[in-house]
Amino acid sequence: MKTWTVTRIRQAKGKQKLACLTAYDCSTARMMDEAGIPLILVGDSLGMTVLGYESTLPVTMEQMLHHTAAVVRGVKNALVIADMPFLSYQPSLEVGIVNAGRLLKEAGADAVKIEGGAFRADLVRALTANGIPVVGHIGLTPQSIRELGGYKLQGRTAPAADQLRTDARVLNEAGIFALVLECIPAPLAAEITAATTTPTIGIGAGPGCDGQVLVSHDMLGLNEQFQPKFVKAYAQLAPQMRDAFAAYARDVANGTFPAPEHSYDPLPESPDALHNPLAPPPV
Ligand code: KIV
Repeated sequence: MKTWTVTRIRQAKGKQKLACLTAYDCSTARMMDEAGIPLILVGDSLGMTVLGYESTLPVTMEQMLHHTAAVVRGVKNALVIADMPFLSYQPSLEVGIVNAGRLLKEAGADAVKIEGGAFRADLVRALTANGIPVVGHIGLTPQSIRELGGYKLQGRTAPAADQLRTDARVLNEAGIFALVLECIPAPLAAEITAATTTPTIGIGAGPGCDGQVLVSHDMLGLNEQFQPKFVKAYAQLAPQMRDAFAAYARDVANGTFPAPEHSYDPLPESPDALHNPLAPPPV
């Protein structure tokens, strides 16, 4: 059994702040798991971070299944949440149950995340009744970017803030086990956090949430195009990676790589061992 379960996440409310990061591949997810990150989200931000799309809208179920399965293979203790991509749950409850079920059954996710407010309550009930744990996501919901008119702070007017309060309450009652609050004013996020029994996970929602989520490419300094105000970069990997690629290209071009220490002597003990990734390295 994993250290982090849906029950433990629920119980963390008010006791322990929860860190969540996005991951899209096995080796990154393994490092996050080893670092003790409790929640790993296979976000549909995959579309931008890894697949080069301009938004999350083109991301497909097959892509989410593929990347979720890779993340699951790297994780022992974290709870893996898979984003349900655009149009994988909007058409009907039945479509939503089938696709959410595939993320658990075929890819091994522990839970799914869906975007949208009170109007998603029926789907939350249908999924949880069928044994599929659900994370809600309100505020800035990137799958509605065309309707929202851009990546902007949400809940700024009194009616919009009221709607978010209602959304949080209704989703909470419907049975979500965590709620992502994206890009809303910090006092509103703190108020929603105080009023809900499920942990809130903020992104651009201030320090008053029960946990935080960041897109891993943003916090690692891999996204050089745009850095939102709410991101803290814990590393600057893009320049380091570019320097490493350039140094390698130089070494190959001028013949300094590979050196004798990177080369094999004739007649290794077992030629097969060189090609077996599980075999101990040849000496
Ligand atoms: O897709 C994603 O990475 C997300 C987070 C920003 C919450 O939904």
